[in-house]
Amino acid sequence: MPDNVTLVDHPLVQHKLALMRRKETRTAEFRQLLREIALLLGYEVTRDLPLTSEEIETPLTKMTAPRLEGKKMVLVSILRAGNGLLEGMLELIPSARVGHIGLYRDPETLVAVEYYFKVPRDLSDRLVIVVDPMLATGNSAVAAVGRLKEEGANNIKFVCLLAAPEGIQAFSEAHPDVHIITAAIDDRLNGHGYIVPGLGDAGDRLYGTK
Ligand code: URA
Repeated sequence: MPDNVTLVDHPLVQHKLALMRRKETRTAEFRQLLREIALLLGYEVTRDLPLTSEEIETPLTKMTAPRLEGKKMVLVSILRAGNGLLEGMLELIPSARVGHIGLYRDPETLVAVEYYFKVPRDLSDRLVIVVDPMLATGNSAVAAVGRLKEEGANNIKFVCLLAAPEGIQAFSEAHPDVHIITAAIDDRLNGHGYIVPGLGDAGDRLYGTK
């Protein structure tokens, strides 16, 4: 496993992911499972957040208690399938700021084309967590993270459900400083840029558009 990749092999994640992959799993269940996995991936991606301490009072006594340190986190969804992961993560981190990046894959070239970009203003010195269920060719993720760096982001993590080895390689070459958290690394990409065995088109399965 490359140093910049964390594979979340927790049994609950693996079980839920297997259910999502099944072709007979319907939209409502797919969406619910993605939300649940997002919570578990969110737990993993925030594992090393810095803590500070503060004096609080319980009903019984005073104590020094931990609290998160630093500026509010930013979650950035790569539209549209990223929104499925975003929802679960927001349940875990309700005070996070949220950005959206719209990219579509040119079906011929598979190159990422930007059509929407809206992120919170002050990205520097915040943890920026970029979410997209599928790291396939890596083109969208590479482009999205590049844009966030242009906007000042300097502490970025990328969370996905499935990654192809090709996507991990392309992403790691472009952004060696960005850690990837994924629930699985699949075999390969097919000729259309889909992950195999994969789960199909994450956006279509999430929103029932096929
Ligand atoms: N995007 C998807 O939704 N599925 C894939 O397999 C690859 C990219």
